[in-house]
Amino acid sequence: MNCTHAMTLGEIVTEDFRAAAIFERHGLDFCCRGGRSLEHSCRDAGISTEDVLQELEAITGPPSFAAMRFDKMALPALVEYIVDKHHAYVKEALPSLVAHSKKIAGVHGGRHPELVRVGQLVEQVAEEMTSHMMKEEHVLFPFIVKLASAKAEGRPAPVPPFGTVSNPIHVMEVEHESAGNAMFEIRELTDGYKTPADGCTTYEVCLRELEAFEKDLHAHVHLENNILFPKAAALENHG
Ligand SMILES: [Fe+2]
Ligand SMILES: [Fe+2]
Repeated sequence: MNCTHAMTLGEIVTEDFRAAAIFERHGLDFCCRGGRSLEHSCRDAGISTEDVLQELEAITGPPSFAAMRFDKMALPALVEYIVDKHHAYVKEALPSLVAHSKKIAGVHGGRHPELVRVGQLVEQVAEEMTSHMMKEEHVLFPFIVKLASAKAEGRPAPVPPFGTVSNPIHVMEVEHESAGNAMFEIRELTDGYKTPADGCTTYEVCLRELEAFEKDLHAHVHLENNILFPKAAALENHG
């Protein structure tokens, strides 16, 4: 794919989701900090922009999941996709993540004290994400769907109960950052989700679950921060 130094990480991933794997590998945050340019992000991460651009250029051929042009989807369909795919996954994944992280903190916490902190962070993410998704599903998303249908049917925009749609969006973005930071800390504490030689099967299972959870969170937050929210705000402002 063709990218420039000035494009933001969010724009690049929106263009082709295969770029996400490259950014993940380099620790470049394309969701919570997706508004920053490639050059700026690479400089901050201490890596060469040219090297990353070369990797991005090597993405060729028809994309698969990447073919889903989320930026071209109608907002109600995008909301439905986020809820059905990402919210459903988070709800399903959390109970076993919490149980497994608590279990390994109890069994291995003596020799691996970082697991106690991992357990606390998982519990925090579980609580925050549960209330976060509830707010999205019951307050923000239904309003965005109403806004989009009013626009499609040529009706006046609904009156938001929260002043402007940018208010709840801002709250959601702050909460995304909190979950993203907690997962980043877990990644650091576990040295990139590595199971030590004395780790048991649950240890390994838990780390794989955490790794998958972080990856899904990045895709989820990308769709909201970089596509859904800016489009909803533009719809409210410009109709
Ligand atoms: Fe969400
Ligand atoms: Fe969210």
